[in-house]
Amino acid sequence: MAHTVSLIPGDGIGPEVTEAAVRVLEATGVAFAWERFDAVGHAGVAVHGTPLPDRVVDSIRRNRVALKGPVTTPVGAGFRSVNVSLRQRLDLFANVRPCKALPGVATPFEGVDLVIFRENTEGLYRGIEYYDERLEVADSIARVTRRGSQRIIRFAFEYARSHRRPMLTLVHKANILKATTGMFLKEGQRIAADFPGVTFNDRIIDNMAMQLVMHPQRYDCIVTTNLFGDILSDLCAGLVGGLGTVPGANIGDAAAIFEAVHGSAPDIAGKGVANPTALLQSGVMMLRHLGEARAADLITRALYTCYAEGTTLTRDVGGTAGTEEFIRALIRRVRAWR
Ligand code: NAI
Ligand code: MG
Repeated sequence: MAHTVSLIPGDGIGPEVTEAAVRVLEATGVAFAWERFDAVGHAGVAVHGTPLPDRVVDSIRRNRVALKGPVTTPVGAGFRSVNVSLRQRLDLFANVRPCKALPGVATPFEGVDLVIFRENTEGLYRGIEYYDERLEVADSIARVTRRGSQRIIRFAFEYARSHRRPMLTLVHKANILKATTGMFLKEGQRIAADFPGVTFNDRIIDNMAMQLVMHPQRYDCIVTTNLFGDILSDLCAGLVGGLGTVPGANIGDAAAIFEAVHGSAPDIAGKGVANPTALLQSGVMMLRHLGEARAADLITRALYTCYAEGTTLTRDVGGTAGTEEFIRALIRRVRAWR
């Protein structure tokens, strides 16, 4: 039986990398029925008068799973981020971002293997913002709830335990943001008692930023609030060869959306040079989520082989190939080993 999956190609490099990932996913022989939505973000405003039409959210709610390309968010003013809205409307509280270098990719360090758990629905991304024209004062309010903290921290601990990862580091700024990240830290310390097999520690965000660029190998799983998690996941992507390869999953009780960490990359959009690996690896996470472990292993093996050989890689990871050439090399292997 085919898996029905909501598909949001997005904009910028989104459609290029989404099409590439879909072709590789289909080459495994797993059957998909895609419910495709092109008009989101700017295109959504133009076609439906809204960046995130209800029918997109309804489709994901029905199918419980989506594969999504990046969607551009206007800077400073304009519509609210489609990405943030989707995560909040579907209550996808856990943003899981594994960072591990593929073979042959030049990185500043060897042996980095991190998983970031970013709280995905609260904090400064709640959208509680005010500007007082008369006083010329702007406020953004961070909202952290006990329940919201508990569920992401528990999720991270459970992942660490089930994936046999020895350590979880909670990142906060509880010395200054005592109410919000202070509560987050306190919940972490309490929940840690339920997971004696996972070593728990905490770091203040500024120190953590330095630690990660000095000795990232000392860290394993990282759980943190929304804004810190957003920043640390790009930092960690940089540690393992850049945004072109790092996948992600937004997981909640009602649904899961799989998407890369990277954005719409307007600087390279439409040039046929984008690296589809990050979205494809998100697709691999989706296959595991759907119980298609064999197909997931198959794509991973093909990816690792292509990267180890290093002859057909995209520019961002040191190669000269375009998206199409890279995808063909991958699909050849997937088909041969299927
Ligand atoms: P970005 O991630 O789009 O690009 C940062 C840099 O990484 C650029 O130099 C880009 O060329 C490179 N890059 C990113 N993905 C790549 C890939 N697959 N292959 C090769 N190179 C790649 O970040 P930026 O420029 O800050 O954001 C652009 C837009 O994307 C913004 O509107 C932002 O709001 C949106 N965005 C959307 C996300 C989503 O839909 N989940 C996530 C992050 C940003
Ligand atoms: Mg980000």
